Amino acid sequence: MGRLDGKVALITGGARGMGKAHARHFAAEGARVVIGDVLDDKGRAVADGIGADRCRFVHHDVTSEDDWAVAVDETIDAYGRIDVLVNNAGILRHAPVAAMDPADFRQVVEVNLVGTWLGIRQVVPPMTAGGGGSIVNISSIEGFAGAAGLSAYSASKFGVRGLTRSAAQELGPAGIRVNSVHPGGVMTSMALAAAQTMTGVDGGGFLKSLPIARFAEPVEISRLVAFLASDEASYTTGAEFLADGGLLSGPGY
Ligand SMILES: NC(=O)c1ccc[n+]([C@@H]2O[C@H](COP(=O)([O-])OP(=O)(O)OC[C@H]3O[C@@H](n4cnc5c(N)ncnc54)[C@H](O)[C@@H]3O)[C@@H](O)[C@H]2O)c1
Repeated sequence: MGRLDGKVALITGGARGMGKAHARHFAAEGARVVIGDVLDDKGRAVADGIGADRCRFVHHDVTSEDDWAVAVDETIDAYGRIDVLVNNAGILRHAPVAAMDPADFRQVVEVNLVGTWLGIRQVVPPMTAGGGGSIVNISSIEGFAGAAGLSAYSASKFGVRGLTRSAAQELGPAGIRVNSVHPGGVMTSMALAAAQTMTGVDGGGFLKSLPIARFAEPVEISRLVAFLASDEASYTTGAEFLADGGLLSGPGY
């Protein structure tokens, strides 16, 4: 018996990193999964690796209302329903406020926050018609704490918390649960790119200060996301879940 037997999930940003891990883990737990991404070749390869009976890929830019309509329609066409949405797609741009191009700030908010809002908006009708569902929004530890150079990223991830709580209030009566997940450092392309631009940060010191003194593997986040997607989390909504190796538990001295 899988934790997600019979469930159908749409996962955004599924071509690599944590989205790819979520797709594989969800399929292993019995779900059928549609992954969306702007990286078509990588996304198709992930879906092919899982197998068409369990996973399909759809080209999906989360900032596009039209793409959202297609992604949700294709999910229902492929597997008959939609029970779970994981709003995982995200981008990070690192620059001090005074040096940041306003277009970059807007792009980060557009993908990380507006994209998440568009997704919730799109799945409410089919989830309501299907008797309910679970929406998992991927925020970050930067949804709880700011960081120099991450004004756009942090603002977008704080925003996801407010969106999650409001949506949970609104959608509870329809049987739709909405929660947010807040990973710390996870070894993905995003983390590697951030490490290259955030040259002032002492990476080794950062890791040593953590109660769990290492980066997470993506699947360690996938297990939490799968729990929230499953019926095991049936009384949990509007809540925030850290998976940060203890980073936010104290100052590390
Ligand atoms: N890696 C970390 O340490 C970390 C920590 C906390 C939170 N997060 C969050 O986890 C999520 C996944 O990040 P990751 O580390 O796997 O990064 P990643 O860069 O490896 O993967 C992100 C995926 O999102 C896709 N994407 C970007 N813009 C998109 C768009 N407009 N439409 C659809 N897809 C788009 C990318 O193509 C990519 O496949 C993000 O929301 C990120 O902010 C990451």
